[in-house]
Amino acid sequence: MCGNERKEVLVKLKYDFDEVIDRSDTNSSKWDAEVLETMFGVSDVLPFWVADMDFRTAKPIVDAVVKRAEHGIYGYSKRTDTYFDAIIGWTKRRFGWDIKKEWIEYTPGVVPAINYIIQALCTPGDKVMIQQPVYYPFRRAIENNGCHVVDNMLRFNGEYYEIDFEDFEEKAKDPKVKLFILCSPHNPVSRVWTRDELERIGRICADNGVLVVADEIHNDLVYSGYQHIMFGSLGEEFALNSITCTAPSKTFNLAGMQSSNIIIADPKVMEKYRRVLERNSIGGQNPLSIVSLEAAYNEGEEWLEELLIYLEGNIELIHSYLGEHLPKAKMIAPQATYLGWIDLRKYEKDGDKLQHVISHDGKVALDGGTWFGAGGEGFVRINFACPRKLLEQGLSRLCRVVTELEMKNAYSDRLKDGIEQ
Ligand SMILES: Cc1ncc(COP(=O)(O)O)c(C=O)c1O
Repeated sequence: MCGNERKEVLVKLKYDFDEVIDRSDTNSSKWDAEVLETMFGVSDVLPFWVADMDFRTAKPIVDAVVKRAEHGIYGYSKRTDTYFDAIIGWTKRRFGWDIKKEWIEYTPGVVPAINYIIQALCTPGDKVMIQQPVYYPFRRAIENNGCHVVDNMLRFNGEYYEIDFEDFEEKAKDPKVKLFILCSPHNPVSRVWTRDELERIGRICADNGVLVVADEIHNDLVYSGYQHIMFGSLGEEFALNSITCTAPSKTFNLAGMQSSNIIIADPKVMEKYRRVLERNSIGGQNPLSIVSLEAAYNEGEEWLEELLIYLEGNIELIHSYLGEHLPKAKMIAPQATYLGWIDLRKYEKDGDKLQHVISHDGKVALDGGTWFGAGGEGFVRINFACPRKLLEQGLSRLCRVVTELEMKNAYSDRLKDGIEQ
């Protein structure tokens, strides 16, 4: 089902996304004081950073996990046909793509999978293309495996981000470029790529012997008016020249369950990938992760539709709050993901200063724009998957501290002008 079939109007939601749930004492990385201190240099901050949600997941998932937990034996566990059928069914129902059981491989996370893919298909010294600003573990995975980053930087047209296809093609021609990691939908700029864009990417990559690694972890979180197209669903030649990474983790707030579905249609590529998994003894799976995935894909659809309605409300809140209290700031209208990319360049262009002031003086933890590489200076990323009450508190802190910063900057400019005159 695509975004524009959903009603934006206020409907009575069955799930209570307004409930503020205390996550302390649950080992939550997002809320942990030590983690916050390490990441932001300060621990008493309201967290809107790492990509998990402050909502309880769908009831059928909780029920399935509780039922399995009550069994009391958590031995080595194996995926059965019901597991694969859940993934196959979801992919067909939501995206119209028929995938086969043999194409699906388990890996405990998309980031680990991207590392294993690089190990399987590149040799140190090879190049991997990405599109910055982009989810920063891509860069790390490339460099940690001895390869080089090639950046086809996204272009901001004042409203949304676009691909510079001339540059893309030029860079793809380099025989050292073996992989292109596509972030689809894109984190952090929240773009849903169109069929035309995806086909163009696919053709350029195929013509130049570059395999597409489509990270589609956010592909279920798409808003009204947009439709996500799975890269492999474009046609057989696209499926055969790609690896697609999906997971129930972002969609259903199951990141801690650590399961991802790596879809590889080309058996030769699958063989290389599996060899790396074998070398690292990756295979067994946490029993709670198995039942949560099955419940999510088989019974979680209603919750997801409600979640998207609530998140669209949060998007409206951010736009209107910024419009009123921080008028020179602009959140790029999210087409997908629960991550908002806010342009604060009219207040402060220095990314490090911005990040320091927001966390230390404003007491809000947001991902710094510069974390995402080139093009991130003067931006911040806000995770708005939280109850509206929390979001309002965060926005209030953000607007206050950026307004103060603007006044301080204006004052020091006046002082400088005074000295220079
Ligand atoms: C684009 C993208 N890929 C991967 C991940 C993380 O995946 P995992 O937790 O499965 O390693 C994230 C998390 O924010 C993400 O945004």
